[in-house]
Amino acid sequence: MAVPPPGDSHAVRRLLPDAAETTIADQIASLDLNRLAHDERPYLVLNFAATVDGRAAIEGRSGKIGSGADTEVLQRLRTRVDAVMIGAGTMRAERYGRMVGDPEFRAWREQVGLAHDPLGVIVSNRFDLPWDAGLFSDGGGSVVIFTASDQQPPETATQVTVVRHEGGVELGRALAWLRHEREIRSVLCEGGPTLHGRLREDALADELFLTIAPKIAGGEAPRILEGSLPGVSELELAWLLEREGELFSRYRPRS
Ligand SMILES: NC(=O)c1ccc[n+]([C@@H]2O[C@H](COP(=O)([O-])OP(=O)(O)OC[C@H]3O[C@@H](n4cnc5c(N)ncnc54)[C@H](OP(=O)(O)O)[C@@H]3O)[C@@H](O)[C@H]2O)c1
Repeated sequence: MAVPPPGDSHAVRRLLPDAAETTIADQIASLDLNRLAHDERPYLVLNFAATVDGRAAIEGRSGKIGSGADTEVLQRLRTRVDAVMIGAGTMRAERYGRMVGDPEFRAWREQVGLAHDPLGVIVSNRFDLPWDAGLFSDGGGSVVIFTASDQQPPETATQVTVVRHEGGVELGRALAWLRHEREIRSVLCEGGPTLHGRLREDALADELFLTIAPKIAGGEAPRILEGSLPGVSELELAWLLEREGELFSRYRPRS
């Protein structure tokens, strides 16, 4: 098994595929997502958290859904990929900071041959983004924005590249660009629900990491996927971890 990045890690019970006591660090370190890259596009995994009643936001944001262990899953998944992708709605709601905030995690990435931060990738037709958020103002890492807009970005401390698609962003073309122009082998898509729907509509999603928090929230919040799909996808549960009633699942397409 690969050595995990440093730092304390939450203990979890692995329920599937075999029962064992483990940690989030060891589970995530066992992933080798870059090796799974497709020739024409990166391997793409999604990560979401939901309440038991299927809500993907509480008071408009995702932070109150999961526990500290859920945050650790997200942070450690970011240590394993070449790029992190989000939709503009998620960027507007969550106002992302630097992708890998912990300097020890960044140093670990460099030790294993990765860039210190994964490339930030934002999809936005309208180009309506919070330019004062940390992701743009921190100056660490770099960002690619796929857009249908012809607007120019403001000056930002973080390097920003804009890739324009006439008439609307085509996600398959965007992922092919990342693979061939930036040599991106794996992408972690952190949402949101609209982007998730578009990716599945175009058959571009390989795996789903889903945290189910032991909470019921109600309200008008979105689910983890919004929009209609051409059909029902059968999934296989590749792993299931538990800590204090919170479930951490990993789903792949059923083969
Ligand atoms: N629980 C979780 O794990 C989780 C994860 C992420 C987000 N969320 C929550 O989800 C909510 C946001 O939902 P959302 O559906 O608006 O988020 P989203 O999918 O991140 O953003 C939707 C926006 O992304 C852009 N976009 C998506 N697909 C596109 C495509 N194919 N081509 C071009 N642009 C595309 C569009 O931006 P423009 O409008 O700029 O054109 C669209 O309005 C927030 O409350 C957030 O907290 C929860």
